[in-house]
Amino acid sequence: MQKTILLNWKANKNVLEAEHWINNIPRDLLSKKSDFKLIIAPPYPLLSQMRRLIDHQELAIGLAVQDISAQSAGAYTGEVVAKNLEFLGVEMAIVGHSERRSLFAESSQLVASKVQRALEADIGIMLCLDEPDFPEQAKLLTEQERAKVSVAYEPVSAIGSGQAVEAELVSSFFKKLRQYFPFNPLIYGGSVNSSNIKDFLAISDGVLVSSAALELNDFLILMEAAA
Ligand code: PGA
Repeated sequence: MQKTILLNWKANKNVLEAEHWINNIPRDLLSKKSDFKLIIAPPYPLLSQMRRLIDHQELAIGLAVQDISAQSAGAYTGEVVAKNLEFLGVEMAIVGHSERRSLFAESSQLVASKVQRALEADIGIMLCLDEPDFPEQAKLLTEQERAKVSVAYEPVSAIGSGQAVEAELVSSFFKKLRQYFPFNPLIYGGSVNSSNIKDFLAISDGVLVSSAALELNDFLILMEAAA
C-alpha cells in the first residue's frame, strides 16, 4: 500500500510561491505507481490555483485543507465550510491539529463536530491526536465516524521543535490508539525530516510534515531519504 506523505503548509506561501512549487516538482517523482501518495494542505486561498495546475499537468498530488468548519453553509463570517470546497477536489481535511486546539481554543467537542461535517460532505479526515486527550476525543465520535478517519499522532512537544519522538515510542502510542481505531491508517507528525523519515515510514502508514518540506528543495531531499 502507498504510504501517505501529507504536507501541511500552515499559514505559509502566496499563490506565486505555490505555483513555483507545483511547476518545478520533478514529473518522475510522482506517479500512481509510486510508493508514496503525496497530499498537500495549502492555505485555502491557494487551493483553486493549485487544483488547476495539478489537473493541467496531470500530477499525482492530492489536495487537503488544514481545517474545516463545523457549520454548514450560511451566515458564518470568516468560516470555510464544506460547501465552499465543492469542485476543488479536496480529498481530506486535517482536523484537530494542536495549533487549532491551543491557539484557537478548539475543544474536542468542536473537533468531533468538524469530523461529522466533513464526513457528511465526503471529505476524508486526518484526525490529529496526542496524549492525554485521545480517548476523550475518540469517545466523542460515533462508531461509524471512528471507522472512517485516518489518525495522525502529533505529539505537541515534537511539532516544529526539531525534537521528533523516537519511532519506538510512536509504535507504542499506536498500540494504544488501536483500542479505538483498530483498522485505521495511522501516521506520525512532528519534526519529521530527512534523517528520521525512513524510521517513521517503517512503522506507520505515513507522515505529516511541515517545516522540513516547505521549500521544494527540502521536500526533494526528504523524498530522496524516504525512498
Ligand atoms: P513540523 O510540523 O513538521 O514543522 O514539526 C508538523 C505538524 O504540525 O504537523
